[in-house]
Amino acid sequence: MKEDSPELIVQLVVNDRPYRVVVAPQTTLLQLIRDHLGLTGTKEGCGKGQCGACTVLMDGQPVNSCLILAVQAQGHRIVTIEGLEQDGELDPVQQAFIDEGAVQCGFCTPGMVLSARALLDRLPHPDEGQIKEAISGHLCRCTGYSAILRAIRRAGEGNKPRK
Ligand code: FES
Ligand code: FES
Repeated sequence: MKEDSPELIVQLVVNDRPYRVVVAPQTTLLQLIRDHLGLTGTKEGCGKGQCGACTVLMDGQPVNSCLILAVQAQGHRIVTIEGLEQDGELDPVQQAFIDEGAVQCGFCTPGMVLSARALLDRLPHPDEGQIKEAISGHLCRCTGYSAILRAIRRAGEGNKPRK
């Protein structure tokens, strides 16, 4: 008789909403977010921790969700790009990306925005070097990065860290 593959239950909070999800042991956090919860703003690029497209915030820290097993997110708080707006208003980082023309194909954008948000929560007015370091794990094939740097600088002007 064929043995059923084991299933695990993961309980976590995503964008302030609690979830209880049944997953296979090898399911990644990225697959949980996209395939189980249907939150497809988080992108899969390389699947190997090299492009940053799959970045989400785990307890406020940017992580590559393709490298984390879903079970490792047990009990943690996750924020995806869908959870960034508050009360129907875009996060100032999202608005700055629009205002500075920092989005072209948009594939890298959710991860970039989330890493920038985490930076600005930690350092409300980062300098150029700190901004570059914060997005150093993100690849963008379209923009040439200048507009992205401008957008994050702009979001830092008058920035207030989120609650
Ligand atoms: S898809 Fe996770 S780092 Fe590229
Ligand atoms: S906007 Fe296309 S990869 Fe960055």
